[in-house]
Amino acid sequence: MPLSFVITDIIPETPDAASFQLSPVNGEHIPYKAGQFLTLLLTVHGRAVRRSYSLSSSPGTDHALRITVKRVENGEVSRYLLDHLKKGDMVEALPPAGMFVYDDENTARRDVFLLAAGSGIVPLFSLLKYLLHLDKKIHIVLVYQNHSVRDTIFRNELEILQQKHGDRFTWIDIVRPEHLNNEVLEKLVERELRYNKADARFYTCGPPLFMNMCRFCILTIGFSSEQVKREFFTTEALPPPPLVKDTTPKNVTILTNGNRFTFQTQYPSTILESALQQGISLPYSCRNGRCSSCVARCIEGTLIMNNNEVLTDKDIRNGLRLTCTGYALTNITLQYEH
Ligand SMILES: Cc1cc2nc3c(=O)[nH]c(=O)nc-3n(C[C@H](O)[C@H](O)[C@H](O)COP(=O)(O)OP(=O)(O)OC[C@H]3O[C@@H](n4cnc5c(N)ncnc54)[C@H](O)[C@@H]3O)c2cc1C
Ligand code: FES
Repeated sequence: MPLSFVITDIIPETPDAASFQLSPVNGEHIPYKAGQFLTLLLTVHGRAVRRSYSLSSSPGTDHALRITVKRVENGEVSRYLLDHLKKGDMVEALPPAGMFVYDDENTARRDVFLLAAGSGIVPLFSLLKYLLHLDKKIHIVLVYQNHSVRDTIFRNELEILQQKHGDRFTWIDIVRPEHLNNEVLEKLVERELRYNKADARFYTCGPPLFMNMCRFCILTIGFSSEQVKREFFTTEALPPPPLVKDTTPKNVTILTNGNRFTFQTQYPSTILESALQQGISLPYSCRNGRCSSCVARCIEGTLIMNNNEVLTDKDIRNGLRLTCTGYALTNITLQYEH
């Protein structure tokens, strides 16, 4: 069921970005984790569209939910939100989702590197506030690259946080013409690392080339892929469906909130496509294997994905699968947990 929100405030952040404070219409508490996003369900020029926006607020530190939107040149929805929405307007959204979260709270002492470029700061800002709020000895290094000082989203708030938590929060402010590259990042990680290398965590969000450079560098200097999380904002063309021998229809059984129902899927449709074609509403956003809105646990049968940019090897071992890029090889049972 979509959630309904009223916009209670719009806060300009830079000439091209603003935050929208959202309050649930029925006053209920909306649980979420730092780093998650909302998928807005909008009607723009008479057409239903959906786009995801990371929460810039953080549980524990912010009273209200907040998303932060940056204008994309010729972008349909970002321009609509920034140019037309006003205080008091209502918006609908899917419940908070996403796996770009801090999920290992057993280690008290560790380094967490947050690597952001441009609007990629949004989920990292939420994680930063959350980690500072955790009463632990976590050392946080934010590396944040921007075109200019004026374009730096949350600059004032970051300055305040740095003054307040200077002992365990380091902000490395990179403004053009300076930029982050392999060499700079490698030196910086070596310099800033305070604790055990195997306990360090990296979160990166920004343009794909920026994130790929960060990931490649981190793996090259000896960290494992399990230590790096990426959040993609953009979607690219999908690879073609995988080749499968048996293209006969398969049953998909869905278990959600105590309900159970079954529909059919047939190659070359993905599980999500089959559901939507039959009017069955399953959660999704990017439809590209990059955001995890469509994630479900496969508890019976076999499903293969032709793209997965969000689930880690551990998630896959735990049965998680993406339905937007998933094809059923056998009859399958999927459990939805949110
Ligand atoms: C999990 C997730 C979280 C996100 N969080 C945020 C957020 O916190 N803040 C935010 O502003 N956006 C965020 N986005 C991006 C957002 O969902 C939209 O894609 C973005 O606002 C552009 O939508 P649009 O309708 O304006 O552009 P469209 O009309 O869809 O696209 C217009 C053109 O811009 C390109 N484009 C689309 N998105 C981007 C982008 N992000 N950067 C550069 N070029 C792009 C497209 O390829 C196309 O050429 C997130 C996306 C995902 C999947
Ligand atoms: S809808 Fe984004 S990963 Fe499936």
